[in-house]
Amino acid sequence: MEKRTLIIYTLIILLGCIFAVMSGYSQEDVTTVEDSAFEKKMRPGVPFLHDQHNEQAELDECNTCHHVYEDGKLVEYDSSEGQECSECHTINKGDNPISLVNIYHLQCKGCHQEKKAGPIMCSECHPR
Ligand code: HEC
Ligand code: HEC
Ligand code: HEC
Ligand code: HEC
Repeated sequence: MEKRTLIIYTLIILLGCIFAVMSGYSQEDVTTVEDSAFEKKMRPGVPFLHDQHNEQAELDECNTCHHVYEDGKLVEYDSSEGQECSECHTINKGDNPISLVNIYHLQCKGCHQEKKAGPIMCSECHPR
């Protein structure tokens, strides 16, 4: 009986390890936001542990950030992951109402402010 319990515990721990490794290394493993559209950058990329961040912040829907719009309306069940934000949002305002820097700030800081959690100071996201 005792031996069986031990085996079961060992199995659970093993499965836990496998899961941890898989969720850590699977998918894309994004650790910084560094949009290729910023050519002359004033600051280094922003540290952002994609999967860990989204787990901690309990963001289950990919399109909370990777959204799709049609005729100016948010499409509820579609998402645009794999596309850089700058594929739709231009550096300068131009055709878009909001510039690329500001859409990042609006999305990241906006949610942190709304949820009263996560960094909102420049230096917290842009470490020296
Ligand atoms: C809090 C916002 C946020 C959420 C939620 C989110 N992502 Fe991302 N994701 C980003 C940002 C920011 C980047 C980096 C900038 C870019 O490439 O667009 C990114 C990049 C990616 C990339 C590109 C990886 C690469 O190497 O270029 C993929 C794929 C991706 N995310 C998939 C997902 C999936 C799948 C989900 C849902 C399970 C998800 N994301 C949820 C913000 C988010
Ligand atoms: C497939 C194209 C597409 C991609 C990719 C995309 N967006 Fe958007 N986004 C839009 C469109 C269209 C709008 C509607 C407003 C407008 O006309 O610009 C919008 C609006 C926004 C807005 C203002 C409304 C809101 O949701 O608060 C923010 C902020 C924003 N995007 C941030 C981002 C960020 C950050 C990324 C990358 C993680 C991203 N977008 C990726 C197309 C896109
Ligand atoms: C829809 C909401 C939402 C969006 C969008 C979002 N965050 Fe967060 N973020 C949170 C929440 C909630 C927390 C606090 C999580 C916790 O309780 O630890 C957080 C925490 C963080 C932290 C500190 C903890 C950690 O994971 O290192 C950083 C850094 C961070 N966010 C960066 C970003 C960046 C950069 C972006 C934009 C690319 C972003 N966040 C977009 C909700 C969001
Ligand atoms: C919640 C996180 C967050 C906060 C707070 C924040 N930023 Fe950013 N910022 C970002 C992200 C993400 C990007 C996109 C980075 C990239 O793609 O390289 C960005 C991009 C930028 C860029 C354009 C890229 C460059 O290096 O030239 C500038 C300038 C900038 N931020 C300045 C600021 C200033 C000034 C503040 C304080 C008023 C601030 N940021 C606060 C997340 C943040």
